[in-house]
Amino acid sequence: EKVSLSVIKADIGGFVGHSTVHPELVIKAKEELTKSGILIDFFVGTVGDDINLIMTHTLGVDHGEIHKLAWNTFLACTEVAKKLKLYGAGQDLLSDAFSGNVKGMGPGVAEMEFEERKSEPVIVFMADKTEPGAWNLPLYKMFADPFNTIGLVIDPKMHGGFLFEVHDLIHHKKVIFQCPEEIYDLLVFIGAPGHYCIKSVYTKEGEVAATSSTQRLNLMAGRYIGKDDPVCIVRCQNGLPAVGEALEPFAYPHLVAGWMRGSHVGPLMPVAMKDAVPSRFDGPPRAVALGFQLADGKLIGPQDFFADVSFNEARNTANQIANYVRRMGPFEPHRLPLNEMEYTTLPDVMKKLKDRFQEL
Ligand code: F6R
Ligand code: MG
Ligand code: MG
Repeated sequence: EKVSLSVIKADIGGFVGHSTVHPELVIKAKEELTKSGILIDFFVGTVGDDINLIMTHTLGVDHGEIHKLAWNTFLACTEVAKKLKLYGAGQDLLSDAFSGNVKGMGPGVAEMEFEERKSEPVIVFMADKTEPGAWNLPLYKMFADPFNTIGLVIDPKMHGGFLFEVHDLIHHKKVIFQCPEEIYDLLVFIGAPGHYCIKSVYTKEGEVAATSSTQRLNLMAGRYIGKDDPVCIVRCQNGLPAVGEALEPFAYPHLVAGWMRGSHVGPLMPVAMKDAVPSRFDGPPRAVALGFQLADGKLIGPQDFFADVSFNEARNTANQIANYVRRMGPFEPHRLPLNEMEYTTLPDVMKKLKDRFQEL
């Protein structure tokens, strides 16, 4: 029988401000998932102000019962958040009436269904203060860059390459690239991570290897509510990237969109779950990597990978980059271009000044 791994996440209130999840919300989420009866196993992870429900079951992807469970869990947590007057309680639950699928309703979703291998190592990556396109660069490195993943060169099972499914988040279209044959075409698109996102990676035989959450909260809601802090699941080993090949891209803290008011560019800093407390200028953006061995659907773990000292240098570099870009204050490219900002005063200021603008 196939096993499904669903990660559904939401920000339903921050402690304090937008920095972390209050422990009582985690307790509530565990309570709700424990009594559900439809899961094989679960783990409640947090990164910044986001709760990530990591769940295994046999119901397949996009299943109404699983989505309903996540939705109701977030509702129950919202009650706690409201009682504690946490900041932005219920902010990611866009509708009062749940319609069977959490997609388009606020929470982020990454799900996959597969035959559990003899040994099934998976990594759940979770990020805060950034957007789904933040995974484009690391996923490219893991599955297409031989300078990151030596397996592409020397493992006969990987040498054929992978398929990349890319979504156009603005026009709601998808396209599949054969790699390495089409890496230059692929890069034309995924180099614009605010527009094109790697949704999934497959082996050439069509087996799922990685999948990410791609919902763009800002566009869904018709107005900007917050960056859609993303999650990504990566299966590892034996024909797929080794665990260390999947983690290696994060040794380089690349620049992503998000950070303060979802309107700035900053380095993605890899941290342990307990250190995912974005504080400086509400950031910088964070990534956490939780490893699990699946055993008949049971989540054996987590292993909190970025707790490892080998990521200290990446954190130092991220802090140096943060020092450097912060000095630009309200100037681009530290501040995002006008059309990508989560907050704007432009229309109001424009209105006020409209009579003072003269033809050149
Ligand atoms: C970024 C984020 C925070 C908030 C900022 C202002 O994704 O969540 O940086 O944008 O704290 O929050 P409000 O507008 O709620 O005062
Ligand atoms: Mg928040
Ligand atoms: Mg968040």
